[in-house]
Amino acid sequence: MPFEVVGLIIWQFSLLKLSINVRLDKFICESTPLTRSLAKKALHRGDITCDGIVVKDSGFKVTEGMRVCLEGEPIALVGVRYLMLNKPVDTICSTIDETYPSVLSLVDVPKPETLHIAGRLDADTTGLVLITTDGQWSHKITSPKKECGKRYLVQLADPVDAGLIAVFAAGVELRGEDGLTKPALLEIIEPQLVRLTITEGKYHQVKRMFAAVGNHVQGLHRESVGQIELDPALALGEWRYLTAEEIASV
Ligand code: URA
Repeated sequence: MPFEVVGLIIWQFSLLKLSINVRLDKFICESTPLTRSLAKKALHRGDITCDGIVVKDSGFKVTEGMRVCLEGEPIALVGVRYLMLNKPVDTICSTIDETYPSVLSLVDVPKPETLHIAGRLDADTTGLVLITTDGQWSHKITSPKKECGKRYLVQLADPVDAGLIAVFAAGVELRGEDGLTKPALLEIIEPQLVRLTITEGKYHQVKRMFAAVGNHVQGLHRESVGQIELDPALALGEWRYLTAEEIASV
């Protein structure tokens, strides 16, 4: 097992230990798809055992090391989770399926309903999407005040010249908005292929920035968010848990 995965498991275990003195009904809800009322019904039916003894009391305290089973199968707290996904086209960053399937349908983990997406990409954009159960962590990524950089690889309809670097560094006015965009870093790889790093996340921001200078985005791929780089080992549609270092970098 790779070193960083071992570190992550130890770290997640330490988080679980902190929360291991919980009511039994809460424990069941946080470790299975059961709602509070279904958990209570399972308790009343005698489907729950703690260290081999049937427990029917919802308020019973589950302590560290206790073996809790639902219909004979052990259950365990799921805990805080952080994932990266390489988003394919024709998927959306909403939590429910609409015109296209949600990116969450690609992530096969327990209790997917506790996950949310830290920063949205358009349906036709590919690349790095961060998914978590930790609201404070995702706020650091999405809040414009935190100025977390997002780097995109952008395929353009028309060539750009070096003058655009200063224009984007100074900020451009987006259609329908007052004021200028925050300074953005443009790197020209080829006349029609560039990297753009922005620290805001306005609606369709990259496409609208290039539209503001008379160009058109033909392909958009997110390569990084803050210090977190999309893992090149992930094919489109694949995901993995973040390492402890990646989580701490935000
Ligand atoms: N900017 C866009 O225009 N689209 C995205 O998906 C992300 C940033």
